Amino acid sequence: MNEATDRPASASQPEAPARNGNGSAPYGSNGHSGNGAAVSGAAPIFRKAMNFTRHRELMDQGIYPYFRCIDSPQDTVVTIDGKKMLMLGSNSYMGLTNDPRVKEAAQEALLKYGTGCAGSRFLNGTLDIHIELEREIAEFMGTESALAFTTGFQANLGVISALVGKDDLVFIDRGDHASIVDGCRLGFGRILKFRHDDMEQLERLLKANAATPGKLIVVDGVYSMEGDIADLPKIVELARRYEAGIIVDDAHGVGVLGPHGNGTAAHFGMTDEVDLVVGTFSKSLASIGGFVVGRTEIIDYLKHHARALIFSASIAPPCVAAARKAMEIIRAEPERIEALWRNTRFMQNGLTSLGFDVGESQTPIIPVLIGDMIQCFKFWRALHDGGIFVNPVVPPATAPNQTLIRVSVMATHTEDQLAGALEAMEKIGRELGVI
Ligand SMILES: Cc1ncc(COP(=O)(O)O)c(C=O)c1O
Repeated sequence: MNEATDRPASASQPEAPARNGNGSAPYGSNGHSGNGAAVSGAAPIFRKAMNFTRHRELMDQGIYPYFRCIDSPQDTVVTIDGKKMLMLGSNSYMGLTNDPRVKEAAQEALLKYGTGCAGSRFLNGTLDIHIELEREIAEFMGTESALAFTTGFQANLGVISALVGKDDLVFIDRGDHASIVDGCRLGFGRILKFRHDDMEQLERLLKANAATPGKLIVVDGVYSMEGDIADLPKIVELARRYEAGIIVDDAHGVGVLGPHGNGTAAHFGMTDEVDLVVGTFSKSLASIGGFVVGRTEIIDYLKHHARALIFSASIAPPCVAAARKAMEIIRAEPERIEALWRNTRFMQNGLTSLGFDVGESQTPIIPVLIGDMIQCFKFWRALHDGGIFVNPVVPPATAPNQTLIRVSVMATHTEDQLAGALEAMEKIGRELGVI
């Protein structure tokens, strides 16, 4: 194989950057320092942990940005250490996680069904509201059937590994989410990676492997760090030509793209051309849980083969109810999607006219490209101190010296809030020489 590796990114191999989730922490090789150096009191397997100090070094410099503790609901304003912060780092694009109607629905389900299901969907963990949720998400997405998993991550693990057998090939974009990469790792097939959005490389790989019958292309609908949209028309054309199946992970497309938030395939008018869409209830849909939608035969197969579904407890009742209510609200209040796009344009135009580089973003995920990692952390820290919550994205989630600050907007942000953020970003950007 000359163009793509058949192995997922490994800690010890130099790799092109993984755009998301393959480790967005600045710890080099997944934080593994190897088993080499002796550390007393720990078995060799733990030496990598004993030698792992990078996080403490960043803490000592006051620029450690992870695991910040929020003590309020996930909304446009959150509190951290008693201080109010403008939230520009959330995936709650529709702004529904703190909506009273969603919370009330969750509360009712809690009282009626209790706190959990104590078992998997396969055995004792299927409630009537799980079935309703599946019916509704299938309808929302414009497909025949749906299957709900406990998280979106598990949906990718379960779906991909159930479909990709030892004689099969799976073609993935290098920017795909970590759960896709891990789903491929769990499958027994060969993994072929193409450069982000490089349709020519995808075609070359498909052509070179045309004789293999089992071929699957898996892409994100909206790329979670840089906010660009997959070239679905081209992917569909290639999939048809080379008889490959298509899965779109639309974690960031649902609620954001499509006539009523029904995602990337609907955005392109290609709902019927995509075999499966995987999604999450944890972003626009204000809850937690994952799903896959598609034709009934494939969903039935997954129901009986996806180990991440069969061997894991089902979504807790309040979360089911919250997701259902969020879907209902998104359908009933199309003005939310309009507000999201108004805010997106406001922020994108504002940042661009200040001189920030926002890359290829086409969605409410807006990367502010910084470059140097320490500069990125300093920018993040200054924003944090200025009361603005954003997320720094650094190697290995980006290429070296292509770090970025991920800004994400919500339907419920006010223009005043966003204008205030732009003002702060301009001031800090100038001070640090970013603009
Ligand atoms: C593209 C993508 N797929 C899947 C997931 C996993 O979703 P969940 O949070 O439901 O596990 C995420 C979450 O970050 C994501 O961004």
